[in-house]
Amino acid sequence: MSQYARFARVYDQDAHRQVAREFHATMVRALGRSFRPQLALDLGCGSGLLTELLAKHVPRVVGLDLSRDMLDLAHDRCRRFGKRVSFLRADLTRPLPARGAELATASGDIVNHIQALPALGRVFVHARAALAQRGLLVFDSLTQACFECDWDDKVYRMSSPAGDLVMECSWEPRQRTGTARMTSYARVDRGRFERRTTVLKEKFHTDAEIRRLLARAGFGDVARLEWSPWPEQLADHRMDRALWIARAM
Ligand SMILES: C[S@@+](CC[C@H](N)C(=O)[O-])C[C@H]1O[C@@H](n2cnc3c(N)ncnc32)[C@H](O)[C@@H]1O
Repeated sequence: MSQYARFARVYDQDAHRQVAREFHATMVRALGRSFRPQLALDLGCGSGLLTELLAKHVPRVVGLDLSRDMLDLAHDRCRRFGKRVSFLRADLTRPLPARGAELATASGDIVNHIQALPALGRVFVHARAALAQRGLLVFDSLTQACFECDWDDKVYRMSSPAGDLVMECSWEPRQRTGTARMTSYARVDRGRFERRTTVLKEKFHTDAEIRRLLARAGFGDVARLEWSPWPEQLADHRMDRALWIARAM
């Protein structure tokens, strides 16, 4: 069972919905209403929270993810869009089964989930190959301030009708790695829950590293917006995330 399968059943929490919603709203504002892609790829689509939002204005959307359990959730969520939305199991570090998209998104700090720089470089190379000339790649990354403030010895508990998700986080500055021990309590019946635990690691990649890998993969016109999905941080200079927009050259 993959790491993500262990908490897929309780992934749909308000906080995760908010990241996808704010990612989408910020992206649409930044790209402008005149940007009208015909085909979008949602890289690391997870349970399809962003895929669903994309499908409301993009005629054809393909969600790609490695986790079958996440893909099953995404498929159920987007069933009403029929053939306009499809899902494929794919490893983002390998060539992707799609070409000619005008937009590729990767929300939910996927670049930090890909820890090794050579692997992240391959993700950008394959995203570039799947995009049309001048197509756009949009993704978010966690800032160093996020790891220092929100990961260092922090515990989060999220609740939803499907069950609870507890994240116990730590931050190792020398390795630039955050560790999240994820315990899911998936509701079964009559007050009974099924508990599963897994450990996820996320790496802080510097802006210079991300820019270098994007350039090597054939992206240009790179824009980096200070960004946070959390309203209370918008007045703060230390934003949780950055939102990146890069053009396939
Ligand atoms: C935090 S979730 C984000 C999901 C979704 N984009 C969202 O905004 O809710 C990270 C997702 O990345 C996927 N993932 C991680 N590494 C991957 C890889 N190498 N190839 C494909 N998917 C990957 C996981 O399966 C998981 O569904």
